[in-house]
Amino acid sequence: MQELPNRLMIVSNRLPISIAEQADGTPTIKPASGGLVTALDPILRQARGTWIGWSGTNEADQTVDQLLEHAANSIGYSMHAIHLSQEEQEKFYLGFSNEIIWPLFHDLQSRCNFDPSYWTTYEQVNRKYAETIAQHYRDDTYIWVQDYQLINVACELRQLGIDAHIGFFLHIPFPHIDIFLKLPWREQILNGLLEYDLLGFQTNRDLNNFLICVEALLPDVEIDRSGEYPLILHADRNPTKVGFFPISIDPQEFRAAAHTPNVDNLYSQIREAFSERKIILGVDRLDYTKGIPDRLQAFSALLETYPELQQKISLTQVVVPSREDISEYADLKQTIQQLVSEINGKYTKIGWVPIHYIFRSLPREELLAYYRAAHAALITPLKDGMNLVAKEYAVCGPDDGVLILSEFAGAAMQLSEHSLTVNPYDINGTAQALYNAVTMPRLERIEHISKLRHSINQYDIYWWVDTFLQAANVKRSGAIEQGSS
Ligand code: ADP
Ligand code: F6P
Repeated sequence: MQELPNRLMIVSNRLPISIAEQADGTPTIKPASGGLVTALDPILRQARGTWIGWSGTNEADQTVDQLLEHAANSIGYSMHAIHLSQEEQEKFYLGFSNEIIWPLFHDLQSRCNFDPSYWTTYEQVNRKYAETIAQHYRDDTYIWVQDYQLINVACELRQLGIDAHIGFFLHIPFPHIDIFLKLPWREQILNGLLEYDLLGFQTNRDLNNFLICVEALLPDVEIDRSGEYPLILHADRNPTKVGFFPISIDPQEFRAAAHTPNVDNLYSQIREAFSERKIILGVDRLDYTKGIPDRLQAFSALLETYPELQQKISLTQVVVPSREDISEYADLKQTIQQLVSEINGKYTKIGWVPIHYIFRSLPREELLAYYRAAHAALITPLKDGMNLVAKEYAVCGPDDGVLILSEFAGAAMQLSEHSLTVNPYDINGTAQALYNAVTMPRLERIEHISKLRHSINQYDIYWWVDTFLQAANVKRSGAIEQGSS
């Protein structure tokens, strides 16, 4: 891995841990879930940098600060917490971020709630993040802002007089112009993004969608495509460099963590419980973008079309609770529960339950044991920025495992050649892919998974951070190399 800047500052909506209240009201720490934390935590541990984000609480209190300080000692990097009031959580986090940008950028515009009061709070909270950055920032710090909740941070930092080079990475997709045009704040969002010096997207498709929107909506800017990365030129500010940098995992760390005695033990327990049956595995945060109901229907269609597979195969679906204060998520939880019970009600036989449904955040060791035990992973988001679970399964799963992957996951751009790709909206097509996974000859499976691993080893999280920081021209001092923007 290339040298990291002296002071790397990651800024994201959430800290990698969040403070939650126990039943008796005492605050406790729990790890945050999601791909962003999985990817960035090893980087910041290595850089011993700083992470700024929301603590999960409403207001600062001494116990929370002590808990964070204690956690920082064991994690190896410092954390500075943002506290969000109830109203800010509702309008900035649940509202603008997760009822507008999230569904729109995942092509699900009918799920958007374009409440006009959300925007002001989004701006206000982005300012709050900028003010906290300003308190902890020094000249040799590289500020790297993450994801759609914080698009306006650079704009707010500029208004505070901070002239540093600032990078931004969008973990979710950037939509096609026909969808982006629906956003009432479309110019503000584009202009907010253009305050960064380097903008990173997950895939070439996202990057192109963005450039098309810029060209169509901001006639005063020019795009220079002559260099390695396109440059967006503006009259009154620094150019913005743009690129795509598919995010990844630390495969060596995952492989090592998946082969400890504890995981061996859990793996044996799972295998014993399922005896000779093949396990198909789904792992997702509770989210309507993940295509969980369609997937359950595809599994049901498989059992219907190929009854000889009944009692020989089970689906284990892990769902990690997420954003349940938004009604769309609470409804989804009900829909999933109902579908699981309908399918189980229809097919269960003595000693065999078709779907094992787990609704909680599993300890990491258990998750890794499931990866190892699964004959195939069924990863079928309707749309996903990347999907790290796909990479984790390819690395930790069995040497003859099969990856079934939605063509609408960013990961498909890299992994489709050696996975069974599906259109997640096509229930019968997905059922057929499942059948193909179960009947694929072993040698073929081994060959595919080894090619997937090769690719993930080559393009790992360290490659991702190196490529991004090189594009940002960050030197070890944290300063930006002269003459290159
Ligand atoms: P997203 O960022 O949308 O949640 P990803 O697939 O990119 O989707 O990332 C999900 C991350 O959450 C993965 O790194 C995965 O290991 C982690 N994760 C998934 N399930 C669990 C679980 N039950 N407990 C803890 N972490 C989980
Ligand atoms: O990857 C998308 C993302 O929204 C991240 O920004 C976030 O860390 C993760 O999913 C989990 O979402 P939330 O913080 O809303 O629970």
